[in-house]
Amino acid sequence: MSTIREFAMGLPKAELHLHLEGTLEPELKFELARRNGIELPERTVEEVVATYDFTDLTSFLAVYYPAMRVLVTADDFRDLAYAYLTKAASQGVQHVEMFFDPQAHTSRGVPFHTVISGYRRGILDARREFGISAELILCMLRDFSAEYAMATLMEALPYRDWIIGIGLDSDERGNPPEKFAEVFARARTEGFLLTMHCDIDQVGSIDNIRTVLTQIEVDRIDHGTNIVEDPALVDLAIERGLGFTTCPISNSFVTAQMKSAEIVDLLRRGAKITVNSDDPAYFGGYVGDNYAALAEQADLTPADLAQIAKNSFEVSWISERRRADLIASVDAYLTTWS
Ligand code: ADE
Ligand code: ZN
Repeated sequence: MSTIREFAMGLPKAELHLHLEGTLEPELKFELARRNGIELPERTVEEVVATYDFTDLTSFLAVYYPAMRVLVTADDFRDLAYAYLTKAASQGVQHVEMFFDPQAHTSRGVPFHTVISGYRRGILDARREFGISAELILCMLRDFSAEYAMATLMEALPYRDWIIGIGLDSDERGNPPEKFAEVFARARTEGFLLTMHCDIDQVGSIDNIRTVLTQIEVDRIDHGTNIVEDPALVDLAIERGLGFTTCPISNSFVTAQMKSAEIVDLLRRGAKITVNSDDPAYFGGYVGDNYAALAEQADLTPADLAQIAKNSFEVSWISERRRADLIASVDAYLTTWS
């Protein structure tokens, strides 16, 4: 008999919360270190994985950023994007809107052009090879200054055709969304779509979610499930059809649980819940694994997962025509399954 895991893996879906730098698998890390003549403290994949001892977002980020020093040339960024897109295509992903953190590279001397031109080449190669489409969302690191974010936005303008949106990630502690209000207002006038991380169980999570919805007026929200603390905000999000990019396996690493109760509660109330992998190389699960893990934990049916997949296309930033085709492909997949 077919399992919900097999259903999840073949289900056509979009991935909307994926950090390219979070797809750096230990094997590729060793390969890039060798290529660039960089000495790593760990000798084996097991030794690298042993450093993945996360208890919260901050302890995760303390491992995540230092690993990026192996990314140096445009080829390195190309290979990272290509490897991720190959894996995503094997798990039913038709379209990805993926984050990249240019400041994690420009702050250590790697030029913006090197980063984005490498990622762009990986996207084009994967599209040619697997038919998967991908867009880039430039994330500002919220623990850097608003001035640095604005300068990064200016640096990105010549590449606007390669960037669909602007996001905000990294450590939320002491870095609320209003710190970047001006940068995001400017990004909007420059024609970018907007999204922001509202990470799980942060100090002031609900206040930050309120700001993101009512002041910044984002087009989507990343994580954001602490919204259940304020029913009026839930109603507002549902009324707007606002997409939530949840990441169950990631949640179970940076908090004690997947937050499946909150995710499923919002889904049942009609919020546009999507399921995503966040940093799959670190949390041990790509997007199909996240669908399966949530289904197994919360006893979801194939029809529930199909609803989540349809949500992913509904709140993705694709053309209306492609949206209709991809939503129809989910219905067709569900029909052949049942
Ligand atoms: N950078 C990479 N993953 C992140 C997450 N889940 N939250 C904030 N910043 C991140
Ligand atoms: Zn994230």
